[in-house]
Amino acid sequence: MSQPSVLIIGAGAAALSLIDHLPAGCSVRLLTKETVRGGNSVLAQGGIAAVRLAEDSVDSHVQDTLIAGDGHNDADLVREIAAEGSALVNRLAEEGFPFDRDAADRIALGLEGAHSFRRIFHAGGDATGRALIEYLLTRTQGRASVVEQATVLKLIMEKGRCVGAWALHEGELRAFRADAVIIASGGCGSLYAPHTGNEGLTGDGLMLAYEAGAELCDLEFMQFHPTLLVKNGTTYGLISEAVRGEGGVLRDEQGRAIMEGRHPLRDLAPRDIVARAIHEEMRQGREIHLDIGGCDRFRERFPTITGILAQAGIEVESGRIPVEPGMHFMMGGIKADASGSTGIPGLYAIGEAACTGLHGANRLASNSLLEALVTGAKAAQHSFAYAIRQKSIPAEFEAAAPTNDESAEAAAVEAPDRLNVPQVTLTELRRQMSRYASIVRDAEGLRRLEHWLLHLPTVPTPLPELNREAAELARLRQLALLVVRSALLRTESRGAHYRTDCPDRLDAEWSGVVIAHRQSSDPILRKERTTDACSVSL
Ligand code: SIN
Repeated sequence: MSQPSVLIIGAGAAALSLIDHLPAGCSVRLLTKETVRGGNSVLAQGGIAAVRLAEDSVDSHVQDTLIAGDGHNDADLVREIAAEGSALVNRLAEEGFPFDRDAADRIALGLEGAHSFRRIFHAGGDATGRALIEYLLTRTQGRASVVEQATVLKLIMEKGRCVGAWALHEGELRAFRADAVIIASGGCGSLYAPHTGNEGLTGDGLMLAYEAGAELCDLEFMQFHPTLLVKNGTTYGLISEAVRGEGGVLRDEQGRAIMEGRHPLRDLAPRDIVARAIHEEMRQGREIHLDIGGCDRFRERFPTITGILAQAGIEVESGRIPVEPGMHFMMGGIKADASGSTGIPGLYAIGEAACTGLHGANRLASNSLLEALVTGAKAAQHSFAYAIRQKSIPAEFEAAAPTNDESAEAAAVEAPDRLNVPQVTLTELRRQMSRYASIVRDAEGLRRLEHWLLHLPTVPTPLPELNREAAELARLRQLALLVVRSALLRTESRGAHYRTDCPDRLDAEWSGVVIAHRQSSDPILRKERTTDACSVSL
């Protein structure tokens, strides 16, 4: 009997954590549109949130996550991830991961928005994502067969089970089969401009899972990071919240601290609140900058940001960084539990691609690398156990499944499947999304956007004739429609979803209600979150 096998789509921290935790007897294949070092996690400046200090506690981390999530988290799952994450991250430190340390050789824990204690583990100052990916790549070297520049176009389903994926690779459509498939392909930052992520974040994993029968949830909750360095219309990169944690203050041209009087945590208020404050100031014609005059040892603490400033021609000594909000993280995604199970046998989703209920309506800073590490580790156990079970099911009960790439490839070429490629530029799609479905929305703008998306001319293109750009555009349009419908349906404001035409959080109607999309069905509204919304307001 052959080894149990898993196929991973994506190459970020969640994917590598999964490989790190898979038992040696598992055959692993990883497909990425980019290179293994070209994913989105590499860009993470913030860090990993986990409890370490004696005065801190998992309870406090849970409470901070629930407050940021604005009454929309799954409280039990938050506790599970915070507790397991604390153990996992502290173990990483013991195993020698190069977290930043202070002069006394203690781990130098940082503070970020809406955290009650210093609990952010950093590496390389503001290069935590890069350090984590390098560390995990070293640990997992030789464990997976990696196929780079492979764009997955369709999941292979047999008898309701996911058994592989079709991918465009070197100009051909190829099939990759496995006992279990794990989607770890990140979010959809590319739907908006500006955004903080990799250009390849086009929501492909979400739409693949949707077409295979999985549910997509919470798509109305998109997180906009308050501070991207934007100068003369060019976006240079993220200015980490950690800069505000180290004393950075948001000011207008007159020097007024704009967060004063807006929230008790001022510049470290939850991200949705800070992003909306900047948006509002900019709408009134003011330019906002981050005053870094109070940050000690800026160059040493923030080497990546110092490099971004240099690219923009800004001297650290000027003490002023021009900033604007931009798309950063999708709280929604493929409905999955903490172990990545999607409800579709053989299909798992982890990291940003998944919607577990951890982030609620607004993610707490540095909870995403934590989620990637924990869900990757848990999905390793579950997907491997599932893969073993597939091996032990007697053949007569199984579909006549081809067992190698070639036989499946023949089927792929026969498959009449197509994607509808919209005849629009990515720039225009982003412009429309950024105008009508970003930091603030209303029904009129959302309806206008829905109409525009529905009436875009499209060219139905057979899968073997697609290229990566066309496939990405098709995925972005499909996902955009679902995002807009979710945002229209949620007639309240909560977390990162802010409707100017319904500006209040309406707990009586909406508390715990999740909007889910399933193919060939109207959107489903379901009360399922366990957070007691009233107990988590500041
Ligand atoms: C940041 O460094 O501000 C981003 C960290 C995060 O998104 O968690």
